Amino acid sequence: MVSAVNPARLNHTPPRAYNRRWKTMPLTFRLARPEEYNALESFTIDAFGPITWLRTADVTFGPLNDLDWRQRWQRRFRKVFDEQIVLVGEAEGEVVALATGTIDRDALLGYIDLLAVHSNHHRKGYGREMLRGMLAHMKSEGAVHAHLECLATNAAGNALYASEGWTEVARSLRWFIKIP
Ligand SMILES: CC(C)(COP(=O)(O)OP(=O)(O)OC[C@H]1O[C@@H](n2cnc3c(N)ncnc32)[C@H](O)[C@@H]1OP(=O)(O)O)[C@@H](O)C(=O)NCCC(=O)NCCS
Repeated sequence: MVSAVNPARLNHTPPRAYNRRWKTMPLTFRLARPEEYNALESFTIDAFGPITWLRTADVTFGPLNDLDWRQRWQRRFRKVFDEQIVLVGEAEGEVVALATGTIDRDALLGYIDLLAVHSNHHRKGYGREMLRGMLAHMKSEGAVHAHLECLATNAAGNALYASEGWTEVARSLRWFIKIP
């Protein structure tokens, strides 16, 4: 059961260097509502489109059983929305960012799955704020550590996590084959 988020508990004070280019409204955070599903699905998949490995696989292997990368992403998003914490970030009443994840209550470890900023609003500081908002939410739910995965080719994501003080603990490769 996820509870409403108290913005007062979310500490997202930007570092001094970041303040200089902070021209946008700070985000306010709340859990997603069921009626927002289509809009959230659409901007999340649009944001991931340029970097997702599902699309790269399609270039070589084509649609999988007639499902192209976007359709497969839609199926993934359905599962995310049904099973994970889905936190959204609003600026001036508009949802501009989303983060999703789960918490391992035994290890007190938060798993951030998706982090996406609406492509109309990239490079305004919302990705950094949304990441901090999700960490604050997970902390308020008892998490002590957090984990996420990011493709090595995702320069924006990796620069963000490194600049926020995350530690790289492993690298992995994704392999694909048409079963002979
Ligand atoms: C990654 C993402 C969430 C960043 O959101 P954003 O709001 O555009 O990023 P911010 O404005 O908060 O920038 C924060 C930092 O991220 C890094 N960054 C963001 N965009 C970048 C880019 N295009 N190239 C390089 N670094 C970038 C920078 O370190 C930046 O700090 P700086 O502005 O001080 O240089 C956004 O690009 C996105 O939605 N991408 C698609 C989905 C995705 O890749 N999610 C993460 C998967 S693990």
